[in-house]
Amino acid sequence: MADAYKIIDHDYDVVVVGAGGAGLRATMGAAGTGLKTANITKVFPTRSHTVAAQGGIAASLGNMGPDHWTWHMYDTVKGSDWLGDQDAIEYLCREAPAAVYELEHAGVPFSRTTEGRIYQRPFGGMMQNMGEGPPAQRTCAAADRTGHAMLHALYQQSLKYDADFFIEYFALDLIMEGGECRGVIALCMEDGSVHRFRSQAVVLATGGYGRTYFSATSAHTCTGDGNAMVLRAGLPLQDMEFVQFHPTGIYGAGVLITEGARGEGGYLTNSEGERFMERYAPSAKDLASRDVVSRSMAMEIREGRGVGKDKDHIYLHLDHLDPKVLAERLPGITETGKVFAGVDLTRQPLPVVPTVHYNMGGIPTNFHGEVVTLKDGNPDSVVPGLFAVGEAACVSVHGANRLGSNSLIDLVVFGRAAGHRLGEVIDKGARHRPLARGSEEKAIGRLDRYRHAKGGSPTADLRLAMQKVMQSDCAVFRTEALLNEGKAKIDAVHQRLADIHVTDRSLIWNTDLIETLELDNMLPQAVVTMHSAANRKESRGAHMHEDYPERNDAEWMKHTVAWFDKGRVTIDYRPVHDYTLTDDIAYIKPKARVY
Ligand code: FUM
Repeated sequence: MADAYKIIDHDYDVVVVGAGGAGLRATMGAAGTGLKTANITKVFPTRSHTVAAQGGIAASLGNMGPDHWTWHMYDTVKGSDWLGDQDAIEYLCREAPAAVYELEHAGVPFSRTTEGRIYQRPFGGMMQNMGEGPPAQRTCAAADRTGHAMLHALYQQSLKYDADFFIEYFALDLIMEGGECRGVIALCMEDGSVHRFRSQAVVLATGGYGRTYFSATSAHTCTGDGNAMVLRAGLPLQDMEFVQFHPTGIYGAGVLITEGARGEGGYLTNSEGERFMERYAPSAKDLASRDVVSRSMAMEIREGRGVGKDKDHIYLHLDHLDPKVLAERLPGITETGKVFAGVDLTRQPLPVVPTVHYNMGGIPTNFHGEVVTLKDGNPDSVVPGLFAVGEAACVSVHGANRLGSNSLIDLVVFGRAAGHRLGEVIDKGARHRPLARGSEEKAIGRLDRYRHAKGGSPTADLRLAMQKVMQSDCAVFRTEALLNEGKAKIDAVHQRLADIHVTDRSLIWNTDLIETLELDNMLPQAVVTMHSAANRKESRGAHMHEDYPERNDAEWMKHTVAWFDKGRVTIDYRPVHDYTLTDDIAYIKPKARVY
């Protein structure tokens, strides 16, 4: 059957899949060390989802008050609810300033202080003095379009270093041989040709899988394609139960309103006009960490103090701010508020609701970006030739809950780390060993099966069914009953994949086929997320289990590792790294997480 497809071969030292912030930083890094580098991306690079990142990128530059990387580290460990690996967190926070200065030199047009330094705003959970406060102004911003600015600079730099871009190519699967990654098979969506990329290393930078949920700030492209390839390769995903709800998605539209809005002085109110965050987080208030703010909003709504006709959302106020601040620091959300909620932010509050925003879980890696097998509990056993960075990866620096603006810094610090590692371990221009016969067959078999799928379930119906189950049974508050029901429901949706209906067999610009491949990628992740959540009998970070409302370090301070095979999930656990990278800082011991 593979003979019916035209296959075009390519040889590279490195292939990066995905052209968001992490993928571009890894591409720029690998190409910059002289490695022959290709980037395969399903959308034009500057349309990758990083473009939607608004508020900024965390680094302890100390431009607007005292700061130190150890304070950033403390906040990140606390934000992670002690599920983050402290060696990786130390690496992230130490390297953050250098990574931001590199962006500045690469051309990112950061907003400026009056002295001309990079402007930094406060973000949730970011404090001075090892959590003691006051808030640290640590989030470096290019107005409220930081991700957009970064993507343009990183794409230009990657082109400068002569990386080749394969744009609007959909990665179908990894080429795995004997436990080693040897390349990728991709479909060119423009002309329907199939491409076999042979490479010494593949870097997955494919982002999160927010679109498994009904209401998400994530773009429609956020389908976790790399995570799914990893599961199909028989490798595990880690900590998938930890799904972040951003407190301020626009009610009804799901569009992101940056936390930077609260960083600039915005606040939330309920139907009684009360600034309720003062009750839930007396010290940090509206700038508590995201899991805390989202849960507080959900509590207010649940207890009948939501706003609007159905009392099902909350108001975000920016109408007390000087319109000049809105125009200069938050122009993007001023426009989005108008377009998506019909609200003039200078005069009216904005209707917002907690909305799925980020996946803390993903492909387990070490802090060089190398994918680890976790075989027999060994944290050092890497998968030869396979790297993952960005939201696709779980390093794990975010643990059970990510702090706002730690995502953009994760992208560039670990994209850069992967670039360095690739430069060290890859022999430039080395001849490729021949691939085994039929290396493309599995990927093409899957493509062919869906092209000809003529069952009774249209892709859009099945996707909606998945999204509704995830939204209702695996959201901000979880219970034993909900999660058990959710497992049965999501397993049943997954089974319906066998009955899918794809309207058209064409390989050229066939959106129904591509959306089906994406759904086939998302469903296993949805199943793994639900099962991992049902297994964790405690509350930690974004996983609030009402039947087990306390964090239970004695039994549950461990990472979930989950495999998926033929519809079945296998779950195991591995220890959290309770050590730091250097002696410059000691392990930060767990304590109660109060904001
Ligand atoms: O709120 C925001 O601007 C989003 C930032 C982030 O998720 O890091």
